[in-house]
Amino acid sequence: MRILSGIQPSGRLHLGNYYGAIRQFLELQNEGEALFFIANLHALTTLRDAQALREYTFEAALAYLSFGLDPARAMLFRQSDVPEIAELYWILGSLVPLSHLERAHGYKDKAARGVAAQLGLFAYPVLMAADILVFGTEVVPVGKDQLQHVEFARDWATRFNVAFVPGYDPQDPQAERPGAIAGVLRLPRARIQEGTALIPGIDGQKMSKSADNAIELFASDEEVKRRIMSIKTDSAAIDAPKPAASALHDLLRIMAPAEDFARIDDSWRSGGKGYAEYKRLLLDLFHATFDEARERRKRLLAAPDEVEQILVEGAQRARAIAAPVMSRVRRAVGLPQTAP
Ligand code: ADP
Ligand code: TRP
Repeated sequence: MRILSGIQPSGRLHLGNYYGAIRQFLELQNEGEALFFIANLHALTTLRDAQALREYTFEAALAYLSFGLDPARAMLFRQSDVPEIAELYWILGSLVPLSHLERAHGYKDKAARGVAAQLGLFAYPVLMAADILVFGTEVVPVGKDQLQHVEFARDWATRFNVAFVPGYDPQDPQAERPGAIAGVLRLPRARIQEGTALIPGIDGQKMSKSADNAIELFASDEEVKRRIMSIKTDSAAIDAPKPAASALHDLLRIMAPAEDFARIDDSWRSGGKGYAEYKRLLLDLFHATFDEARERRKRLLAAPDEVEQILVEGAQRARAIAAPVMSRVRRAVGLPQTAP
């Protein structure tokens, strides 16, 4: 099974990125041939600062490696190091209906907020489809917010095969019937980790780097403490039962081992502990969960050449997978084979 997922290097990573994305991606690296990449071309849709893009890209690589990506098994690479992606993006773009892009959530949300949209933002899902399809990916682990994008990729792969592969039957995409013709582009499917609710930020809204409500995974100890201690709570007295609708309660549920959470939840409901005590508990859980990765990141931070080497090798292995797919794509549409 070939598995691929990417993260955008558009800022520092937070708890939401870990529980909603990174953790589930990395769990899959033992289930098949995994490709993990840093979507630096996508990040250009929001970032206009070369130094920041370089820094966030490096940080994303550090994060993957610190959380246990094993470069001996999985491929880790930068999107821009695989030029086949940008080529497929253009070819796919010629059959993507504008109406699909107009209803893409990312674009719709930004347009609704009055953010001026560039072609890059509008075409974001096409580049993402190219990321997925160029490697013949079967499984794409993503957060719920990315499901629509993976479904687009599936739909456009079908359109490509119908348009360019004579005899292709969209009812039989795996070419299971005898004599059936296989497509050039394989149809991917999304894997959503159900149960990972949206992680709330310290203000109770969805945790997001743009909302200034995030608890960053690799912030300094002091900063982590400061953020956790400023999680918004109501004015319930120490003895009073605490309301279930609370960012602090949600974060404890997400971070505590299930047995421990049952106890925490009992006292939460019956009263007797103050919010400060729960916040200290959350801080302990944060360190128990992340200190190992935080230490590993520190070591890698001091070894940038080692990280670069992993990225370069990852891109070489990834390109070896993309090259034959692109070769078939070029042949199918009538473009010459380019020299390697
Ligand atoms: P941000 O909202 O901070 O800009 P991104 O949109 O770059 O984060 O998200 C990257 C990945 O992290 C996505 O796959 C998304 O599903 C996941 N993610 C981000 N924020 C959260 C959150 N608050 N809860 C759960 N998952 C999240
Ligand atoms: N759009 C994804 C996000 O914001 C990142 C991404 C880019 C991606 N290309 C991808 C994820 C391909 C999975 C597969 O989270």
